Amino acid sequence: MDNVTFHDHKPEALSLYDAVVDGLSRKDKSIPPKFFYDERGSELFESICRQPEYYPPNVERHMLSQLAEEIASLTGTGRILVEPGVGSAGKVRLLLDVLRPAAFVPMDISFDYLKNVMKVLAGEYPWLPIHAACVDFTHSLPIPAETPSGPRLLFFPGSSLGNFHREEAGDFLGMVHDMLGSDGMLLIGVDTKKSESLLHAAYNDAAGVTAEFNLNLLHRMRRELNADLDPKVFEHKAFYNGDAGRIEMHLVSTRPQKLRVNGHCFDLEAGESIHTENSYKYTPDEFLSLAKGSGFSEVRHWVDENGLFAIYLLSTI
Ligand SMILES: C[S@@+](CC[C@H](N)C(=O)[O-])C[C@H]1O[C@@H](n2cnc3c(N)ncnc32)[C@H](O)[C@@H]1O
Repeated sequence: MDNVTFHDHKPEALSLYDAVVDGLSRKDKSIPPKFFYDERGSELFESICRQPEYYPPNVERHMLSQLAEEIASLTGTGRILVEPGVGSAGKVRLLLDVLRPAAFVPMDISFDYLKNVMKVLAGEYPWLPIHAACVDFTHSLPIPAETPSGPRLLFFPGSSLGNFHREEAGDFLGMVHDMLGSDGMLLIGVDTKKSESLLHAAYNDAAGVTAEFNLNLLHRMRRELNADLDPKVFEHKAFYNGDAGRIEMHLVSTRPQKLRVNGHCFDLEAGESIHTENSYKYTPDEFLSLAKGSGFSEVRHWVDENGLFAIYLLSTI
C-alpha cells in the first residue's frame, strides 16, 4: 500500500520492566493500564467489545452512525484527523466517508497490531493518506513530520479518557488543546455515570473475557520479563468505587506468594491486589467543566436515549 507510512515514536519511558518494578515496589501495588496492550491484549480487547454486557462500543457505534452527517456539518471536511489509541479502527470507519479527512494520523501503543490494522484500512480507503505512529499518548502526541498542515480534528472514542485520574485527564486535554492549535476540534466519547449493577456486569462479563484481558498482563510479564509467577493464583476483580466515580480493576493474589522479576522479589499476601485499571465515569456537567478548564468550548454534545454514553464535539477557541 503506498498510502500508509509507519513511525515509531515510542518513548524510552515505555518499559514494562521499569513499570513492573516501580509498581510492585509500592505499598499499594499497581501497573498502568497501557501495559495491557501487547498484540494478545489488543485482540482480547476486541473480544471484550463483542461481549453483550459491555455496552459502550455498541452504544457509541450506534450513536456515531446516526450522527455522522451532523458531525461532518459541524466540523467541515478536509481536516487532519488524529486518533490516539485507535485499536482496530472500527469506529473511525463510520466517519471517514463523511469527514473526508485530508490525512489520517492513527496512533497506538500496540505497534504490531497497529501495523496490521492500518495495512487493511489503507486498502479499504485508497484515497486517504495514513501516517500511523506508535505513540504513548500519556506522554505526548507527536504528529509525523510528513503530515500535511491544515486544521486538525482529534477523535478520542471508547471512553479512553476514563483511564486517566481526573487531574491527569485535565492535563491530557490540555496537551490535546495545544496539539490542535487555534482552529482545532475534539470529538470525544465518554462513558456516563449509571447504575452500579450495569457497570458491574460490563466489567465482569459471563464469558470471562475481561478477566482474561486483565490476567494477560501476568502472562505478558512471564513472556517478556521471564517473571517467576503463576497466573492461576490470581483472580480478576472489578467493582464500582462510587466515592471516586470509577470502575477499578485489580489482580488479586489468592494466597501468600513471592513474585520474582529479574532479581527483584515481591511479597504478596493472600487477598492483596495489583491495581491495573481505573475507568472514570462522567456526567455531562462534570466532563464539560473539565474540558472547559483545559481551554475547550462546547460545540454540541449528545447523550444516547438510555443515558448510557455521551459524545462531545468541542472547539479549541
Ligand atoms: C480501550 S481501547 C479503545 C480502542 C478504540 N479507540 C475504540 O474506541 O474501540 C484503548 C486503545 O488505546 C491503546 N492505548 C492504551 N494506552 C495507550 C497509550 N498510553 N498510548 C497509546 N495507545 C494506548 C490500546 O492499545 C488500545 O488500542
